[in-house]
Amino acid sequence: MTIIDGLVAEHRVFLMLFDQVEHALPGVKTVEEIGLLCRLLEAPLHDHGGAETDLAYIALDHILHQKNHLTRLHHDHQEIDVLLKKVEAIKDLQKARTQLKVALDACRAHFSEEERTVFPLIEKTLQPETLQILGRVWKSQSHLAR
Ligand SMILES: [Fe+2]
Ligand SMILES: [Fe+2]
Repeated sequence: MTIIDGLVAEHRVFLMLFDQVEHALPGVKTVEEIGLLCRLLEAPLHDHGGAETDLAYIALDHILHQKNHLTRLHHDHQEIDVLLKKVEAIKDLQKARTQLKVALDACRAHFSEEERTVFPLIEKTLQPETLQILGRVWKSQSHLAR
């Protein structure tokens, strides 16, 4: 398993979770429950973004013309954190539901962009052996891979 296989597999797990959360949202009766859903997503998303930055993005860091792209994707990671934290602070149930959907859609768009742009570049830039080694490092750190 390469680092990219691992990250894409994590995306699939998150996308399934997002669908389930979205499906459950109309039945959620309190903002506290919405806050709980946000907190459940925050930590694994944070870990996923951290592993990407540390293990994968860094591989492209020396390709100068990719700098803007990477900076934006890195910025997305912080923004996703902030979006979920903002949902937790909302006191109106309908608004909280709507904003959680906005956060989930932002994550989906971010994953899709990574898979279309940065991941193929990383696969082109690094040697297959390096991708495998990074995959092993990722696997030893990922909670979702266990
Ligand atoms: Fe990411
Ligand atoms: Fe990702």
